[in-house]
Order: sequence, then structure tokens, then C-alpha cells
Amino acid sequence: MTHPIVYSNIAELMTMKGLQANDGRHVGAKDLAVVKKAAFVAEKGRVVWVGRESRLPTVFRSSKRVDCQGLNVFPGFVDCHTHMVFAGDRVNEFEKRNQGASYQEIAAAGGGILSTVKATRKVSKQALVDLAQQRVGKHLSQGVTTIEIKSGYGLNPQSEIKMLQAAKALKKARVVTTYLGAHAIPSGTTQAQYLESLKRELPKIKQLGLSQRVDIFIEKGYFDLSAAKEYLVFAQELGFAVTIHADQLNRTQATQLAVALRAKSADHVICLNSKDKKRLADSETVAVLLPAADFYLECDYPDARTLIDSGACVALASDYNPGSSPTQNIEFVGLLARLQMKMALPEVFSALTYGGAKALGLEGEVGALLPGFRADFFLSNQSWEQFFYGLGGHDVFRTYVGGRKVFSKK
Ligand code: NIG
Ligand code: FE
Repeated sequence: MTHPIVYSNIAELMTMKGLQANDGRHVGAKDLAVVKKAAFVAEKGRVVWVGRESRLPTVFRSSKRVDCQGLNVFPGFVDCHTHMVFAGDRVNEFEKRNQGASYQEIAAAGGGILSTVKATRKVSKQALVDLAQQRVGKHLSQGVTTIEIKSGYGLNPQSEIKMLQAAKALKKARVVTTYLGAHAIPSGTTQAQYLESLKRELPKIKQLGLSQRVDIFIEKGYFDLSAAKEYLVFAQELGFAVTIHADQLNRTQATQLAVALRAKSADHVICLNSKDKKRLADSETVAVLLPAADFYLECDYPDARTLIDSGACVALASDYNPGSSPTQNIEFVGLLARLQMKMALPEVFSALTYGGAKALGLEGEVGALLPGFRADFFLSNQSWEQFFYGLGGHDVFRTYVGGRKVFSKK
């Protein structure tokens, strides 16, 4: 892969050029910058040239070719919020919720996050890797090439490190890890004691190179605003980027905190007032919307229209986890964004590429097919207009990460 490779015979290639210029704000179809009868060249895992095949520079004319068979090429999707490393499931809880118990009632009875903590603590690191590697395969088969994975089902130093090491051991996809030790307060401790213990762990997480990012769940019954602020500031002083599970079930003003701290993203952002929305839209903090979780929790969806129309940079992600979002189906996420949040199709593509990349601090690296970007892409016989419409799973023929084939349909 050190020599240039020409990917030719592409019906339509989505470059995302316009999103780089407008920072994923006020997105329209032209920003997807689709090139017809296209080709592109990758070298050392990065794109070095993109354009009409008829304009392929002479220097590449005798390079090795990959025939894209008249299919369409898309930049790999970025799923910027998942809890993909976990053991067990929460099928019993699902049944209870479906009979009327709330997410918070189940949590108060020792279920919810804490029940996945129990299951995850029990298994070996290798068992977590094996489970998560299969899930990565499912993401790749849908064209998702970058996956953020949070810890947060360990809630003690040893198990949190086990989760992060498992995430780091995953192959084929580009994985970004996030330390979510502050996902819930383990039984037998107070919030203050627990956050102090996490603060003692942070330098080690950094030193071991296990994560460069810190997340916290600010919510009634989980972590409160002022304690969270102190913890996040401490993390930033150590050099971590921060992100927040913000205003999901109640308005805690966590989104405003995210903006004030220049967090990479504020995620969920459902219970916002108009001032919160305006602040978020005017900021560099990405609004990460997780409609599959809202679907499963049967709660309100975020006000995507107001956020987008006010100029927010929005991302969509799966929030894949065994409790509130037990699905990896990216097509479903995009479909919900359209149906329930009235996002326009180009906005959905932007949210799953540029938005996700920016939330992870990877804009300029992934989420577009332009010179300098990673050669992360997938091939499909569907045109972009046919995405996020059906529910059978969109048709991905092949997926590449860094120019390497990581999924093939047959
Ligand atoms: O993003 N809200 C907190 N965390 C997850 C749920 C995780 C779980 O229920 O296990 C979320 O929805
Ligand atoms: Fe989450």
C-alpha cells in the first residue's frame, strides 16, 4: 500500500467537500459534492487525488487499479458515541420497561447500567474483545469505519482499564476510546468519594495511552452539574478532551456546561430550553443526537430542526449499548433522524461523517474523501438518495479502512 492505487470506474463518489468549508453547518445537497464518473487515488492509506476519471493525472495512469465496478463510493461513516464493549444483555429490563417501568426506576432497583457492570466485570478481557470484534464487523458491514467506544461498565480501576484495553485491541475499524468512569456511582460510595477516586485514575489512563477523552453522565441520580464541572476541568488540565452525556432525561444545564468548557460534544441534548439551543448552536461543541436511544426509551427526540437552523454542527450516532439502545443499525438511526427529527437527507449524511468526525476531533482526517484524508470508504449500488429510507440494511458491497479491505459482501 506504499504505491498509489487508483480506484476507478465509480458511478458517483461523495467527497463531502462543502462540509469542510461550512463546518457542517447549514448543510445542503451541494455540500456533499458528489462527483460523477469518478476515480480517486490512495497512497499509504490516505487519499492523494479525487476527481473525474477522465482527468486522472498522467502520473497515476500506470498505477495499480481497483475496479469499483460502476458502484458508488461513500466516505466511511463515523459512529461517534457507542458503548460497544460490554457483556451480557438487558432483555429482562426491556420486558419490564415495556410493561411500564421507567429507565430510572429500573436503575434505582439495581438494574440498568449497574447490571451491565456486573456482567462486564465478570468476564475476561479476551471475552470482551471477542464480543466487541463481532460488533465491529457488523458496523463495518454497514460502512461505518470509525467507532468511538466508551468505558463505563467497569466502575472500578481494574475493570475500566480492562474495557479500554479491550477496545484498543479491536481490529479493522478505526477505534477512538473514551474514559467514562463517571457513568454511574457504584454502590457503597458517594459521588464525592467516587469522583475523587476517578481523579486519581486519570493520570494512569493517560500514561497508559488508553484514552485521550473523558465523558460523564450528568443526570438526576447520576452526577450533578457542579461536581461534574470540577471533574471535567481537572481532566482538561491533564490534557484530556471532554464530552458530556447532557440533558438526556432532565434539564440539568449540562449542555451549557459543555459549551462553557469547550467540550468536543454534548450528547443526547433532549431537554434544552431555547437559550441552551442557541448557545450550543453558536459554539464549537458538536450536538450529538442519538435517536435510537430515544426510540427505545420512548422519550422526546432532540429538537434537531431548531439546532440545525440556528447553525449547530450536528452529529448522529448509534449510542449502541445493551440498555437504552440495543441496536447497531445505522440505517435505522438515519431513518429516525429523518422521520422523527425532520432532518433532511444531506443533513443526515453530514451528521454521520463530518459531524461525527468533529465530535471526535478527527475532522480533516476522516469523514470525507479528499486529498489528505484517510482512505476510509465503502462501495454500494445504492445512490445517496436511496439511503435511510428502507429498514433492511443498506447495501454495502465492500468497506475499506486506510485503503485496506476490511469487509466484503461475499
Ligand atoms: O447513552 N445515558 C447513559 N448512558 C447510556 C445508557 C447506557 C446503559 O443504559 O447501559 C446512554 O443512553
Ligand atoms: Fe451513551
